[in-house]
Amino acid sequence: MGSRLWILMLVVHQVSPFRLLAEASPCRVLQDDVDCSSLNFRRIPTQLPAVIRRLDLSQNLLQNLTEQELPASYSSIRHLDLHGNKIQFIQPGLFQDMSLLEVLDLSENSLDLYAALKTHVGPLTSVRRLDLSGNGLFTDMSDYFLSDAPVLANLSLDGNSITKIGRHTFNGSQALTNIDLHNNVIIEIEEGAFESLTGLSELDLSMNSISCITDFNLVQLKTLNLSKNSLTNFQADESDQEFELLYLDLRENKILYFPVLPQRNKLIYLDLSRNLLRSVNCSGPLEELEILKDAGYLLTDHDKPLSLCANQRHQDLPSLLYLDLSYNQLKALPSSFFSSMMALESLNVSNNCLESFSVEGLNSLKTLDISSNNLQNLSFGGNALAALEVLHLEGNALQTLDADSFARLPSIRSLHLQQNQLSICSPREGPTGGCVQLSSIPTLRYLYLSENGLLSLPPGSFQGSPLLILDLSQNPGVDVVPSSLSGLESSLCHLSLKGNQLQSLSIDFSLFRNLKSLDLSVNRLTGVSLWSGDSSVESLNLQNNSLVTLQSDAVIALQKTLRTLYVGSNPLSCCRNTHLLTLLQQNRLYVPDIASATCWITRDSESVEIGVNSVQAEHCESADGKVLWISVIVVLALGLALVLIVTLKHCHSKRHGFNRGIKA
Ligand SMILES: *[C@@H]1O[C@H](CO)[C@@H](O)[C@H](O)[C@H]1NC(C)=O
Ligand SMILES: *[C@@H]1O[C@H](CO)[C@@H](O)[C@H](O)[C@H]1NC(C)=O
Ligand SMILES: *[C@@H]1O[C@H](CO)[C@@H](O)[C@H](O)[C@H]1NC(C)=O
Ligand SMILES: *[C@@H]1O[C@H](CO)[C@@H](O)[C@H](O)[C@H]1NC(C)=O
Ligand SMILES: *[C@@H]1O[C@H](CO)[C@@H](O)[C@H](O)[C@H]1NC(C)=O
Ligand SMILES: *[C@@H]1O[C@H](CO)[C@@H](O)[C@H](O)[C@H]1NC(C)=O
Ligand SMILES: *[C@@H]1O[C@H](CO)[C@@H](O)[C@H](O)[C@H]1NC(C)=O
Ligand SMILES: *[C@@H]1O[C@H](CO)[C@@H](O)[C@H](O)[C@H]1NC(C)=O
Repeated sequence: MGSRLWILMLVVHQVSPFRLLAEASPCRVLQDDVDCSSLNFRRIPTQLPAVIRRLDLSQNLLQNLTEQELPASYSSIRHLDLHGNKIQFIQPGLFQDMSLLEVLDLSENSLDLYAALKTHVGPLTSVRRLDLSGNGLFTDMSDYFLSDAPVLANLSLDGNSITKIGRHTFNGSQALTNIDLHNNVIIEIEEGAFESLTGLSELDLSMNSISCITDFNLVQLKTLNLSKNSLTNFQADESDQEFELLYLDLRENKILYFPVLPQRNKLIYLDLSRNLLRSVNCSGPLEELEILKDAGYLLTDHDKPLSLCANQRHQDLPSLLYLDLSYNQLKALPSSFFSSMMALESLNVSNNCLESFSVEGLNSLKTLDISSNNLQNLSFGGNALAALEVLHLEGNALQTLDADSFARLPSIRSLHLQQNQLSICSPREGPTGGCVQLSSIPTLRYLYLSENGLLSLPPGSFQGSPLLILDLSQNPGVDVVPSSLSGLESSLCHLSLKGNQLQSLSIDFSLFRNLKSLDLSVNRLTGVSLWSGDSSVESLNLQNNSLVTLQSDAVIALQKTLRTLYVGSNPLSCCRNTHLLTLLQQNRLYVPDIASATCWITRDSESVEIGVNSVQAEHCESADGKVLWISVIVVLALGLALVLIVTLKHCHSKRHGFNRGIKA
């Protein structure tokens, strides 16, 4: 018995990387780290090691934190995790003697009950990071934790019920650099609340109920997150001090006019998406302001005019890299708006109401998204967008463009033109008006043209544009001729001709040496003899066509490289498709739509649909086969009869002999 237990312990010791404590404490110990998480503790376990650096008591049932409860070694703790308990009482002064404690996580407890006692938790002498998130704390309740936290740098009050940040809230925690107030119900911030925090660099006020920021003056702040509030306007102090602000997130508010940003700024990131901007002016006509003010939309403290706005001068944003204006109501974007944005790399104005877009300059811009507007005209100045790589124009009403609009972009790599009304110029005939040139763009690799109502793909449409991906899907009726894709033989990797009502296709895909993925689904193809020799295709989609058989030449060309094949929703024949069925039986071929891959057989002169996987040889016994079977049976029967007669005869004579023998 004793030795068996010893063996068991040896096994446990070998399996677990942790040193096990005495049976009384199931905590896991790794060097100075003690992990007592998720063990349903109601009190802190006794019998903990003498020196602990990190103690994890998260996800237990602790209620009261008193000195008696803490282990004797508690003064050595640097990191104490009490996340997800039911703590509602902390003995005042408890953390005072933990002179090494740097990280204190009290998130997801019931500290609102403690704060209701109106006692201060005492000094947090060495704590640099304090997490009080998810504690149901109301306004001012945080005071009981923050009144004496001289080196506290990072504070999280995420997910509480704070409605107001008072002037003195951070009196006792002057070293704060990061404050997270995400997901509260803040409607008011008293003047002076953050101003004294000279080291403050990151402030997260996202998901609150702040309706207006005027005289923003936190010059040292680097990141300000005000997303998901109810802001109608944002105005910085008009001093000529230099602000350190780099990231300003104003996404998902109700901002009506372009914010008044610090005059001297280093902003690199500005998100104004999902607001109510109707122009990039920083105010509207005076009458409009009055109406909005009366309607309670504009809550300015003072009636002073918005002086930066008085002349409608656009703001200087010389360092801006990223500007998101998507999901607003912009009708126009004057090209002067961008004149100071020398560094801008990404501009998103998708989902607005722009009817035209024209720019000069913006020669650092790499990504431009003007999708889902109402664009009719587009004009890029002669010397504009030299660095543009990705252009999104999908979902506009674009019909006519200057033929060379895209050919003039020297770095363009990816063109998203789907859901427009464009047609493609023939390089042989030259621009005939009303078409765009997509050939001879040596940087173009990705081209999306689905849903354009394309009627023709003139010969050499893409010649000289080394496309990797070409999406021509959902252009029902488009006329694809053998030379439509000429010039793409060595580059094309993925081609989609899905949903084009193609009845036949005469392209020799053997010429496309790098074509890996070919989508021909949702057409009316009756045959796919598309390879004169080898194929490099790894994924082929033939779903939803009119294929009865897959010709042997196609199967032979494909079988070497094909890995994925879609064949569902075709009127396949079960018995005239031996090549296809052999292909499908190969283990390395993946048929994602095998469930809908069916074929037809004639049974008792009726057509029956069965899964291609359940086709058996005997399903396909032809009428000839039956005759053969019948003749075999007849021959066998005759043979049997003959044998029988011979045997009988033989037996008869033998019996005679026998009789004879007995007689003898
Ligand atoms: C915590 O303290 C309260 C009052 O001080 C007491 O009623 C409660 O029983 C204590 N809970 C535990 C688990 O010790
Ligand atoms: C404070 O938080 C920031 C960002 O979350 C982090 O980079 C920094 O290391 C933290 N500082 C301390 C003292 O925990
Ligand atoms: C904060 O400091 C101010 C003056 O320094 C003082 O009047 C105020 O009472 C303090 N508030 C708190 C909550 O400690
Ligand atoms: C601002 O906060 C929101 C919500 O918490 C978050 O999704 C977003 O990434 C933050 N913005 C920045 C610039 O960090
Ligand atoms: C924006 O300001 C310009 C210049 O003052 C003015 O012409 C234009 O009408 C304004 N746009 C809107 C929408 O108020
Ligand atoms: C532009 O913004 C829209 C909406 O927020 C987003 O879906 C899209 O991905 C953005 N475009 C780019 C190029 O990031
Ligand atoms: C687009 O440009 C054409 C001429 O190039 C012009 O006649 C038309 O008014 C413009 N449309 C818009 C909406 O600017
Ligand atoms: C084939 O595609 C058409 C057009 O998208 C669709 O209406 C039809 O349901 C599809 N048929 C099958 C069997 O998937």
